[in-house]
Amino acid sequence: MNKHSSIKSSGSLLERASELYDFGAALRGGAAAPAVPPVVEIQAVAPEQTHAPEQAPVIAPVRPAMAAAPVSRTQVTISRERLAAHNFIVPDDPVTGLSEEFRIVKRQLLLAARGGKGFDALPHGERILICSANPDEGKTYCAINLALSMASEKDNRVLLVDADFAKPSILSTLGIEKHRGFMDALADPECDAESLVLQTDIDGLSILPAGSQTNQDTEYLAASRTAEIIDQLTRNDPARILIFDSPPALAASPASVLALHVGQTLMVVHADVTTESALRDALGLLSGCEHIQLLLNRTKFSPTGRKFGNYYGYGAS
Ligand SMILES: Nc1ncnc2c1ncn2[C@@H]1O[C@H](COP(=O)(O)OP(=O)(O)OP(=O)(O)O)[C@@H](O)[C@H]1O
Ligand SMILES: [Mg+2]
Repeated sequence: MNKHSSIKSSGSLLERASELYDFGAALRGGAAAPAVPPVVEIQAVAPEQTHAPEQAPVIAPVRPAMAAAPVSRTQVTISRERLAAHNFIVPDDPVTGLSEEFRIVKRQLLLAARGGKGFDALPHGERILICSANPDEGKTYCAINLALSMASEKDNRVLLVDADFAKPSILSTLGIEKHRGFMDALADPECDAESLVLQTDIDGLSILPAGSQTNQDTEYLAASRTAEIIDQLTRNDPARILIFDSPPALAASPASVLALHVGQTLMVVHADVTTESALRDALGLLSGCEHIQLLLNRTKFSPTGRKFGNYYGYGAS
């Protein structure tokens, strides 16, 4: 029986998530709980929602200019029509429910990455792994939307890294032709990863493709060169947030190696589909990263008539 089938569709998303996964027990270290990373929070995103929030668009404050971005050699164009057709955030379009949801997720990640409001920045918090337990739970979808949302920030730039070497999909999803990428730099000590970064026509957004396929991706990732490359990418542009689109933790071993190199992991949970045991197993495999947050994806809104802002406590802080 699907244990999730009895979950009520009413109640807040946070309440529903707590019903689905007994994180209280996990955090208390109950006998049945596997070792989970110390910080587990729950957020929600329901991009299938159709109504737009009623808040006025937020105008970003003017901030001091950043240092210039590294000059990247290859320019690529991302079709705005394609973004809209695939339900992604479209830069410079009016605020939508989707863009608001990712804005909330982004704020929390940026706070951990950069510090502020009394919080210290996490070590390597500017490196964020987007993972999930199983295939098809929305990692790439969330990684791209998060990258688009973060790229609109005035004092951050985003490097979206396709780290799903066996099944790369960022370029194809965005309608960009194949290019060399991360794996080519990992496999060839002479190859400079920065030279493989694609500069998109979206301000603040660049992409490092997955690159050539190999059947030794985990071995390459586990080598010391991985840390050198990632450090170098960060040094080249300190304003960079690196978002890694990961393979699923339970289906491929690179995810657990990638977790060792990032300061934060966003674990995508497919609402009403991801099972608690799969999630616990996946969290165990990602224990190399100490700061993991959960993102409940593809939730279905109950038609309560509540406004988006009320639903999420938007603007309450
Ligand atoms: N919240 C959402 N709303 C609408 N469509 C979604 C949502 N999340 C995911 N999808 C769609 O579901 C499909 C699977 O998502 P995606 O490719 O992001 O999963 P994945 O976890 O990256 O899969 P894989 O493990 O194969 O890499 C895609 O077509 C994506 O556009
Ligand atoms: Mg994917």
